[in-house]
Amino acid sequence: MPEAYERHLVPGVFRPFASDLAVRAGALRPRTVLELAAGTGALTSALLTAVPTASVVATDLNEAMVAAGSAREPRADWQQADAQELPFEDGSFDLVLCQFGVMFFPDRPAAYSEVRRVLAPQGRFMFNSWGTLASHGFGAAFQAALERSMPDGAPSFLEDVPHGYTDPAVVAADLAAAGLTLATVEAVTLEGVAESAASVATGFLTGTPVSAAVQSRDDAQTLQAAITQKLTDCLGPGPVTAPMTATVYTAHHQT
Ligand SMILES: C[S@@+](CC[C@H](N)C(=O)[O-])C[C@H]1O[C@@H](n2cnc3c(N)ncnc32)[C@H](O)[C@@H]1O
Repeated sequence: MPEAYERHLVPGVFRPFASDLAVRAGALRPRTVLELAAGTGALTSALLTAVPTASVVATDLNEAMVAAGSAREPRADWQQADAQELPFEDGSFDLVLCQFGVMFFPDRPAAYSEVRRVLAPQGRFMFNSWGTLASHGFGAAFQAALERSMPDGAPSFLEDVPHGYTDPAVVAADLAAAGLTLATVEAVTLEGVAESAASVATGFLTGTPVSAAVQSRDDAQTLQAAITQKLTDCLGPGPVTAPMTATVYTAHHQT
């Protein structure tokens, strides 16, 4: 999964938001940074380019992601870690960063409590989260192709997980439960790009948990071809672009 994710989803879908978050993080001039759910390191690289002097610890739950990330971005110190149980001392980082990871944490207040614990007193927690699935041109088109190709029950993973944590009031309440104050909320819309609709389809079909529901079927190959064709019919045959919306949050210790 890390290879497919890195090849088909990172360049056109995740890197634009990594550049955005790195510029915002760089403006804080952090010295010690902890990145959660770093994946293959899209944000890690953008951050180290924006702030080459920062000491960056990049973590992810998934060992395969850590292996891929550390090979790709050796300037960071990579460690396997569950965001809900961080293996770091209290107050050790002046910035905790997370790109498109919080939606995957089963117990977000527990993860945010850990963020508060490892954050220095004046430190900042900065993260982003996708907007609704309808606000993501590639995700919405892919889900429509999936549903038309699997009328007996398409997986609702995209709607439920990556695009299922979209209400700033819920985010504020989860942060408050962990002793953090939500300071800023900003919606950001950027353009997604991909070499083809087929590449977008391959990214979602092999680089996300949607793959399990499709690959486990006897007709997996036919199904993948049908989904790819429907996505191509929708987005067009050549290089494709689509708007994608996310929300950027910053938080700090309660005062
Ligand atoms: C959509 S990817 C984002 C990766 C990377 N931040 C990026 O922008 O490309 C979500 C990541 O969250 C990680 N993840 C899921 N649950 C986690 C947890 N409890 N603690 C830490 N990482 C987790 C996954 O392994 C995956 O790498």
